[in-house]
Amino acid sequence: MSLYQLVAPGLELRGEEPRYRIAEIRAADPLGADAVLAAVPAMNADADVAALTVALRTLVPEPDLVAALSVTDALAAMRDLGILLGSLKRHGIQPVAAVPEILPVLEELGRRTDMVPRDTVHHYTTWNPLGRRQRMYTGDTMEANLQDAVRMVFPSLVASLDTCAELARLEPYEPGFALALDRTAQHVQSMVDSIDFTVENVSPVFFAQQMRSYFEEIDVAGVDYLGPAAAQVPLWLVDLTLWQSDRSNPAYDAFLEDSVQYSLPSWRDHFAAHRGGTSAVSKLSAAISWEAADRLPPQLAASAASLAHVLRILKTFRARHITIARKAYSEEVRQYEMGSGGAPIALLRSVLDLTRDNETLVRRSVEPPRSPAARPPKP
Ligand code: HEM
Repeated sequence: MSLYQLVAPGLELRGEEPRYRIAEIRAADPLGADAVLAAVPAMNADADVAALTVALRTLVPEPDLVAALSVTDALAAMRDLGILLGSLKRHGIQPVAAVPEILPVLEELGRRTDMVPRDTVHHYTTWNPLGRRQRMYTGDTMEANLQDAVRMVFPSLVASLDTCAELARLEPYEPGFALALDRTAQHVQSMVDSIDFTVENVSPVFFAQQMRSYFEEIDVAGVDYLGPAAAQVPLWLVDLTLWQSDRSNPAYDAFLEDSVQYSLPSWRDHFAAHRGGTSAVSKLSAAISWEAADRLPPQLAASAASLAHVLRILKTFRARHITIARKAYSEEVRQYEMGSGGAPIALLRSVLDLTRDNETLVRRSVEPPRSPAARPPKP
């Protein structure tokens, strides 16, 4: 089974397995953790570190059980341990120091699933059961809404992997270029829907003062691993082939280098295959530079219009996202200066600027040149 399939219920067109697999992981309770995890919100509300520590210790499986777990069960086990890891850290306790016997288990689960040795945003959202068995730190409806906001983007991001890989193989003169971009645009629209849903259903103060602290990094064998926050949502998968591979800046490059490890194995492969390639924006700019600006071949004009359209959707997501992020990290409400993905608001500003600059570049390349009469008079 490919882990790639595990977050892609939208891929049921290729067979029923993915939806079935996600349902399987959600249904799995390999550590018998349902009852303990249902009590976690109350333990957190009381800051009951002793109860959280006992709960984690109780769930730590014996080595022979870990060895016998299927991948499905290993993912579910990491998800369930993860809720306690983040809860303990929220109350100032390094979980591995408090329950040392968890260390080999985290390492083995990470190895078995080819993921980092702690839970990720996939465990916390897509692989989290819904309803009565839903794993939460607080039990608050706004936490459930935040989980839903993230859950809703994964099927489309998975689908965009294919359209972006196709785009990377094409040139702007080919009809498939605009088509791949139009399909990508349909997929990334989910990011805008998700942030609109978040703005309506999650208050920035709730995020800042109730949620943020559960996403702190934890120390696993001397390495800090970030919590399962939305900043791990791999929108970079789309940026990569559109513009990031050769038109980024060091701050976003560094953020990506760190973020990639939290994604699924096949997404890391996608990153390795496409980093350093020629981005769609660069291919288009090069193609256009050979043409007279007022007589672009129709296919090239169509490619530019489609590229500008996707970039505009990304820009819309980022503009709305930074608005809520600024509120949550404003001086009056924040408890942390850095985001849960390890980066400051300044990073969001810089990625928004890069997205906007690339969109402007592409849009201007196909705008008809302004006639002298339309130009503003010289002062
Ligand atoms: C109250 C809600 C939210 C707040 C306060 C917030 C805040 C932040 C902050 C401060 C960052 C900078 C990196 C870091 O965290 O270290 C970030 C990054 C990011 N967040 Fe959020 N976020 C929220 C919700 C969401 C949602 C619902 C999504 C998508 C489903 C999302 C997707 C992203 C992505 C993709 C990045 C990486 C930067 C980028 O690609 O522009 N966030 N977020």
